[in-house]
Amino acid sequence: MAEPKPSNKKLEGKVAIITGGASGIGEATALMFVDHGVRAIVVADIQDDKGENLAASIADRCGCTFIHCDVTKEEDVESLVQSTIQLYGGLDIMFCNAGIMSTSLQTILDLDLSSYQKLFAINVGGVAASIKHAGRAMVKGNTKGCIICTASIAAGIGSDRHTDYVMSKNAVLALMRCASTQLGSHGIRVNCVSPGPVATPLLCQGVGMGVEEACFT
Ligand SMILES: NC(=O)c1ccc[n+]([C@@H]2O[C@H](COP(=O)([O-])OP(=O)(O)OC[C@H]3O[C@@H](n4cnc5c(N)ncnc54)[C@H](O)[C@@H]3O)[C@@H](O)[C@H]2O)c1
Repeated sequence: MAEPKPSNKKLEGKVAIITGGASGIGEATALMFVDHGVRAIVVADIQDDKGENLAASIADRCGCTFIHCDVTKEEDVESLVQSTIQLYGGLDIMFCNAGIMSTSLQTILDLDLSSYQKLFAINVGGVAASIKHAGRAMVKGNTKGCIICTASIAAGIGSDRHTDYVMSKNAVLALMRCASTQLGSHGIRVNCVSPGPVATPLLCQGVGMGVEEACFT
């Protein structure tokens, strides 16, 4: 994709966090943010090697740091936000993107509640913690910031499988609606993106397909 013209660089001066930023949609978003002139990006993930490599590959174009953050641990998320502010002086954009797919088909008749709880801790609890701590920092800093969550096209439809995943993405939509209502008066926008299928490791593992195979067929 061609780099935007300088006049179209919408993110000049902005500081962004991307959770789940080491891979797939988060990684591509980090590169897109750089093209749009972001001042600094913090890549937050549990995949340390991938996150470090991405941060190193971007660091000559803007401030970029990898921070290990497990979004299921609220203290990790709080520390991620505080470290970002200490490093770069503020936080303008929080992309709450970390997520996983169902570990099995998870039809209602076979629903494994322990897998469901693990998935919800990441896909819903992680998003809630990320909105909470980014929102607190933006309110405190009087920043008219932007919080974006990754939901899914699956949030708008029923499905014959992956019940826990579909439920979790519906919950992300509900979270976004509550947070946007509550934070709008502070000038903070909260939105979701709802992608259709994208050939990332998450999707390819979910459908039992190699990433290379999925990308090129
Ligand atoms: N790929 C698709 O077709 C698709 C479609 C709709 C929505 N989504 C959503 O997009 C988001 C990104 O997924 P992707 O497709 O890029 O997959 P991906 O597997 O490439 O990226 C997800 C990232 O989240 C990270 N992650 C997982 N658990 C974490 C945790 N506890 N703490 C921090 N990071 C964690 C992973 O390490 C990984 O780097 C997810 O929320 C997913 O549900 C994906």
